[in-house]
Amino acid sequence: MQVFQNKISNTTLDIFRKHHEMFANDEALNEKHYGAGEVKTLIKKGTLAYEEIIKICNNHFSEDVRMYAAYQRQVAPTELHVDSNDDDDSPSHTICIPMHTDPRIGSVIFKEKFQTNEDFRSFLQDFPYESRKKLSNISERYDLGHTAYNYKNNDRLADFLQLDGAFEYKLGDYMLFEADQLHSSIDFRSYPEYEYKDLVQIHITVKK
Ligand SMILES: [Fe+2]
Repeated sequence: MQVFQNKISNTTLDIFRKHHEMFANDEALNEKHYGAGEVKTLIKKGTLAYEEIIKICNNHFSEDVRMYAAYQRQVAPTELHVDSNDDDDSPSHTICIPMHTDPRIGSVIFKEKFQTNEDFRSFLQDFPYESRKKLSNISERYDLGHTAYNYKNNDRLADFLQLDGAFEYKLGDYMLFEADQLHSSIDFRSYPEYEYKDLVQIHITVKK
């Protein structure tokens, strides 16, 4: 994962906020079917927000990539997962743009890669906690209480994985990672000031 600091201007963040205000109640532009109860307000061509998305993607990718962008409001943290899947148009990269500043919240990214979430579930099912050593103490540094653990002793899977990095939310920063890298949210629900967490997410598909 790579973090780019102070790259998203306040003007751009305002455009994203206004996009959400304008379209959050437009049924046709909101995807609500995700597991953690998040709502994704799509950022489509022809909007100001889309223009900002293009500029950010152009920092890293050529103009012929495919993009899916959304303003995402999460009411619960996401579990460990990958953004890639088996389809031809499976995303190759993800960009995450936080809409809050708070070092206690964000996401953690691991070096382990899976093509699909099904593949990750098989890995998880057979994970030999007893014969493995912890590789980090990431679960003590951030709230990962919602993620997979060993029911015998409450050890968190996250501590046995190869940590790529933690991304602490800061307005103006963004993070880029490979869509097949395992990652999860940091749980924000023990902080009463957060009823939800907002971010802008871009999935980039580079044609093979
Ligand atoms: Fe994700």
